[in-house]
Amino acid sequence: MATQVATKFNVGGVLLDQPFKIRRLGHFGLNLTHFDEGVRFWSDLLGFKISDEGANGCFLRYGSDHHALNLGRQRPIEDRRSEAEAAGRRFQLDNNINQITWQTQSLSEPVAAVDYFAERGIELRRTGRDGAGSNWATYFYDPDGHINEFYYGIEQIGWDGYSKPAEYRRPVREKVRLPVPSELDEINESLATGVAPNSGYRFAEKLPSRYDVDGIMLPRPFKIVKHGPVSIFVEDVERACAFYTRDIGFELTEEVVWEGERCCFLRCNTEHHSLGLFPRTLRSRLGLSAETTCMSFGLQLANYQQMRNAVDFLRAQGVRVETDRIPPELYPGIDYSAFAFDPDGHCVQLYYYMEQIGWDGTPRPRSARREVDPMHWPEALEPLSDTFKGEPFIGPWG
Ligand SMILES: [Fe+2]
Repeated sequence: MATQVATKFNVGGVLLDQPFKIRRLGHFGLNLTHFDEGVRFWSDLLGFKISDEGANGCFLRYGSDHHALNLGRQRPIEDRRSEAEAAGRRFQLDNNINQITWQTQSLSEPVAAVDYFAERGIELRRTGRDGAGSNWATYFYDPDGHINEFYYGIEQIGWDGYSKPAEYRRPVREKVRLPVPSELDEINESLATGVAPNSGYRFAEKLPSRYDVDGIMLPRPFKIVKHGPVSIFVEDVERACAFYTRDIGFELTEEVVWEGERCCFLRCNTEHHSLGLFPRTLRSRLGLSAETTCMSFGLQLANYQQMRNAVDFLRAQGVRVETDRIPPELYPGIDYSAFAFDPDGHCVQLYYYMEQIGWDGTPRPRSARREVDPMHWPEALEPLSDTFKGEPFIGPWG
């Protein structure tokens, strides 16, 4: 349990400024106006596998986490407006991010966050345990009204590809009372009910495995190995940066002033940034969709060659892919990058390399970074000191 010691919180025997420590981006969600076309883009073209679906949307994965992406059906404006007004919140037409979700490492962390948020006047959305994904979760709002989530313990989908049957799940709609049983004990109890463990959802791939992807036959010539960073447009970068650092515990890796506007890049682990904060005023200047506060959602591909292959593959499928939509100054820590657009106009940042930040917290000096010409990609690259470094993908690619 996290207990307060003076102004510090004891998180697993270490004194922190918050009763939790984010370890990585867990998942991300968007509400889509063009839902069916969107699912086709994210699933058929990018290779996400659906892990559960319902009337309001679907959950998708590329690895063993039950979901890395949540696609919702956008609801009518009137419903969204009246819901916001009933909750005393300002309605924002362009906020269609349904969650920015962060993994903590113990259940006590999202639970302790509930009181911490209350003490600081941070608005709670809900807390408990979700059905799909089985993760214990605490949802809250950032100063711009973006829904964030902390979670512990998302379901892992294994070699047989089955999601946990609904009967095995134990959703909770209130603050969780600790301690709770382990997953193994819960599963043993559920198995004893006679419900088959393989009665959950299992994805059926529609496309044939036509591409030799570094030795594995896959339906697309690339493999997503990591998700994030999430980049968002905010009203006030100063305010958002203070919230995510002081209240939530991110570290500011780097600031960039571009055309007179301040942009902040925040990390929660060793990658240069997991969250980018940009002023809303840049949105139209960058030619990005006015319908969303999501500037971009990053997807890391296994390597540089696969990113090149992905650009060709997506363009051949009629997807708009640009390499210079966002200038390199606005994605420090990443070098070559391509921007693909989903049917709603959401910008997906494809990349293969992320600068890693070490113990002293210092990013690579700008002068020592690779010079990138977004319109001219070389055939092959010289390695950097941190090429292929960082958290690896676990498990088979397909
Ligand atoms: Fe979530």
